[in-house]
Amino acid sequence: MKFIHCLLFSLFTSLSWASDDQSSKEDLTELLSLNCQTPSVTLHVFSTKLNPVWMINTTQIVNIKNVTKKILKEYDHRQLSPANSTTRIMGYHGFTISCSPEKEIFIHGLTSLENHLLETGRSHLSPTILRHVREHLGRSIAVTKYAVLTRINCDRVPIKGSDKVPVYNPLTGNGGCFVKKQSKNNCYAYGTNIVTNTFPQPGRYSGSRLSSITCESVRRAAVLDGLVYYGTLIPKGHPKAGHFVALLIWPNADYHWVRRDANGYWSHKPGAGAITNKDNTGSLITNPALSNLAPWRIFCGYYIAQPSKINIR
Ligand SMILES: *[C@@H]1O[C@H](CO)[C@@H](O)[C@H](O)[C@H]1NC(C)=O
Ligand SMILES: *[C@@H]1O[C@H](CO)[C@@H](O)[C@H](O)[C@H]1NC(C)=O
Ligand SMILES: *[C@@H]1O[C@H](CO)[C@@H](O)[C@H](O)[C@H]1NC(C)=O
Repeated sequence: MKFIHCLLFSLFTSLSWASDDQSSKEDLTELLSLNCQTPSVTLHVFSTKLNPVWMINTTQIVNIKNVTKKILKEYDHRQLSPANSTTRIMGYHGFTISCSPEKEIFIHGLTSLENHLLETGRSHLSPTILRHVREHLGRSIAVTKYAVLTRINCDRVPIKGSDKVPVYNPLTGNGGCFVKKQSKNNCYAYGTNIVTNTFPQPGRYSGSRLSSITCESVRRAAVLDGLVYYGTLIPKGHPKAGHFVALLIWPNADYHWVRRDANGYWSHKPGAGAITNKDNTGSLITNPALSNLAPWRIFCGYYIAQPSKINIR
């Protein structure tokens, strides 16, 4: 009995929660010590699609280091203004800059530095994305860090949840693997309750490539993957098998999925970010068609997701 108690203890309560909304002095010091010729920059903005990545050249990195030095001085003299807070959870989160995938430096909550990073990506980004990011520069989304101990091997994918309605608990949902492998699973993986570690895309498993992002094109791809279209009227309760998910579109940019949990509220995982059951205003999601999930503004409809009948990659 005691043994079981210990196991449960280590499994469910060895967790910590922390939140911060501005890159630390340590992050900036690491940025100064980046020593490759052409670092890569990632813009964290999408929910389903892979985020845009581009390389910067020597001149650009020198410039960025200069701005970084200035911010570090402000840190030292306690003159740095705090990040402008927001409850927003969708869309722009910040940038990572790195010389190798093992060491990525996350930059957020620092308007001047973010602005320089965005400028280096101007030719790589669509006007829609540029407009959205410019609007939110420096308005940092607080980073939620869940720590989870899991006995499940999160590499043995796909890890499918059961066909029962999922219970909302980011730490234990699907063995805790959406937390342990947070950056490798997006809203489509979380929505369908299948851990793939591949940042799965609608239609990729079933061989249907999305040429455009419309409700119709994503619907075609999702149905091929095994989701069942339900309609646009909000369902009552839960389906007999599986659970309900809803699809939303950011026109010409990206798509997003949210799922209804056993408690009746909807939860989601914005891209590589943390699982949440809130919308941009900090409210619980009771109706995805009416919640603020901007810039994913177009509501497309509801689907039934039964993990045993779905294949995604
Ligand atoms: C680096 O890229 C910028 C912007 O594209 C360009 O103006 C500059 O000439 C480049 N510098 C080098 C050293 O390639
Ligand atoms: C960066 O700072 C150094 C020293 O302050 C200066 O010589 C150089 O011109 C600056 N470079 C850029 C690209 O701003
Ligand atoms: C917060 O916003 C103000 C006004 O837009 C700006 O001057 C300030 O630099 C921002 N704070 C940070 C840390 O970027």
